[in-house]
Amino acid sequence: MPLAVLYSRAIAGMEAPLVTVEVHIANGLPGFTIVGLPEAEVKESKDRVRAALQNTRFEFPSRRITVNLAPADLPKESGRFDLPIALGILAATGQIPSDKLGLYEWAGELALTGELRAIRGALAMTYGAARSGRSFVLPEQNAAEAALVRGAAVYPATSLLQICAHLAGREPLQLYSLHPAKDTGAGAGGNGESALRYPGMEEVKGQAQAKRALEIAAAGCHSLLMIGPPGTGKSMLAARLPGILPAMTEEEALESAAMQSLGSGGFRAASWKQRPYRSPHHTASGVALVGGGSNPRPGEISLAVNGVLFLDELPEFDRKVLEVLREPLESGRITISRAARQAEFPARFQLVAAMNPCLCGYLGHFSGKCRCTPDQVARYRGKISGPLLDRIDIQIEVPAPPEEDLMRQAQGESSETIRQRVETAYQRQLERQGKANAHLAVKDIDKYCIPDKAGENLLRQAISRLNLSARAYHRILKVARTIADLAANPEISGAHIAEAVQYRKMDRS
Ligand SMILES: Nc1ncnc2c1ncn2[C@@H]1O[C@H](COP(=O)(O)OP(=O)(O)OP(=O)(O)O)[C@@H](O)[C@H]1O
Ligand SMILES: [Mg+2]
Repeated sequence: MPLAVLYSRAIAGMEAPLVTVEVHIANGLPGFTIVGLPEAEVKESKDRVRAALQNTRFEFPSRRITVNLAPADLPKESGRFDLPIALGILAATGQIPSDKLGLYEWAGELALTGELRAIRGALAMTYGAARSGRSFVLPEQNAAEAALVRGAAVYPATSLLQICAHLAGREPLQLYSLHPAKDTGAGAGGNGESALRYPGMEEVKGQAQAKRALEIAAAGCHSLLMIGPPGTGKSMLAARLPGILPAMTEEEALESAAMQSLGSGGFRAASWKQRPYRSPHHTASGVALVGGGSNPRPGEISLAVNGVLFLDELPEFDRKVLEVLREPLESGRITISRAARQAEFPARFQLVAAMNPCLCGYLGHFSGKCRCTPDQVARYRGKISGPLLDRIDIQIEVPAPPEEDLMRQAQGESSETIRQRVETAYQRQLERQGKANAHLAVKDIDKYCIPDKAGENLLRQAISRLNLSARAYHRILKVARTIADLAANPEISGAHIAEAVQYRKMDRS
C-alpha cells in the first residue's frame, strides 16, 4: 500500500499532543514534501532521512513523497519526527512490514548514518504514550528518562536498522524495565550522595553567621541574599548549598525531571532525586530566565524547580530581567503567553543571590578603603528594586573574615552533618503542614506560626522601628518558624523572632 500511518508526539508547553505522521507515495515527478506546520528543523528532516535511508542500504523512492503531520494547526519542531518519517517511507514502499506500526509511538532524530540521536521532552511524550496504551520507541539515550513514567512500555533503540529488524521480527527490541532509582542507586538514599559530590562546607573558614543563615535557608526553602566585600566567600558558600539541601520526594523529583527533559540540556539519570542548582550568568536575558520562545520552553526558574536558582553579582543583572522574577517568586508558576500559544510551567524555586555592598565593593570593610559617596551607594543598591528585596526572606552580611579565622587549620562542620539537621527540620515541616515553611500561605501562617508573648512583643517593636511591610512581617514569622524547627521547638519564642529580624539587613540600612 502506498500509504503508511504512524504516531508520534509534539511538545506544547508541558503537554505532548499526539501527532499522526501520514506518508503517501505517489507516481509523478520525484519530490519530497512535508506539510502540517513544520518548523525549520522538521523541514530539514528531508535531507537527514534521505541520507540515512541511503546509508543503511535501503532504497529511497524516486517518486512523489508527501508527509502530512496532523493535526495541521499544531506547530511541529525538532528532529524527533525523522524516525517516524523514515519508517513511513519504508513501510509505504513495502521495504518493511507495516502491520505492527500502529502499536507503537515513535520519536528520534536520525544521524546521516542511520543512528538515532537523543531528543528533547521524552518524559512528557512517554506520559502521553502510556496513557494511550501504546509502547514508545525512542533513542537509547532517552530511555532512563522515559522509564520514570510508571507503567510505560519503553523500547530504546540505537539505530534505524535495529528498529527495522524488530519490525521484521528478526531481532526484537528489548523492553526497558529498570526504574532509574535502581539504575543509578540514588533512589533509596535520597540525595545522601550529593554531599560527596558537591564541595564541602568544612572548607569555608569562619563565616559562622553566613553558614547558619545558609542552614536556615536550606531547612525552610527560604530565599537568601548575601552582601559583602569581594573575596569573602559568598560565591564559595553558595556553591556549597546543594550539599546541605534536604532530599526530594518522588513527586518533586518527577516534576524537576520533567522540566529538565523539556530544557535544552536534557535530563540525566544521574541527577535523579538531586535538587537542581542553576546559576545563570548575569548577562542572561529575561527569556532565558523565565522561559519563552514561539513554542514556549522553560527558562532557568523552571529548570530550578524544587531546587536553587543562584544569581551571583545580583546588581549586574539587567533590572528589567530581575523584575520578571517578582511574580513567579510569589506564585510559584509562570505563564508564558505568545500570540499563538500559552504555556504554564512550575517555577517554585529557592532564590539565592550574592552582591557587593557598593560599586567598589569595600563599603564597611575594615581597611576603610571605600571612597563611594552615599549617592553612589544608593544608586548601586537601587539597581535592585524594593519589591524584589522585600521578597527575600533572609538578607545577611558576609564580612571579611578575621585573620585568625583564615589561618586556623581546624575544620568546621561537614556538609553531611549540617544536611542531617536540615533534613530533620524539613521533615518536621512536612509532617506538620505538608510543605516547606517558605511556601506557607497567609492563612497557614496564622495557623502554624504563632509566636509566644515575648516573641509577639518583639515583633511589634520590630515592625514599628524598621517600618516593615506586611510581606516582611510574614517572612519574619516564616523564618522564625524554621529556626524553631531547627531547634526542635514547637513554639516560636522571642529568641527565634530576634534571630529572624536580624536577617532583614536591607530593611534596616
Ligand atoms: N571564608 C573563607 N574560607 C576559605 N576561603 C575563603 C573564604 N573566603 C574566601 N575564600 C577564598 O577566596 C576565594 C574567593 O571567594 P569567593 O569567590 O567566594 O568571593 P566572593 O565573596 O564571591 O567575592 P566577589 O564579591 O568578588 O564575587 C575563594 O575561592 C577562597 O579561596
Ligand atoms: Mg562572587
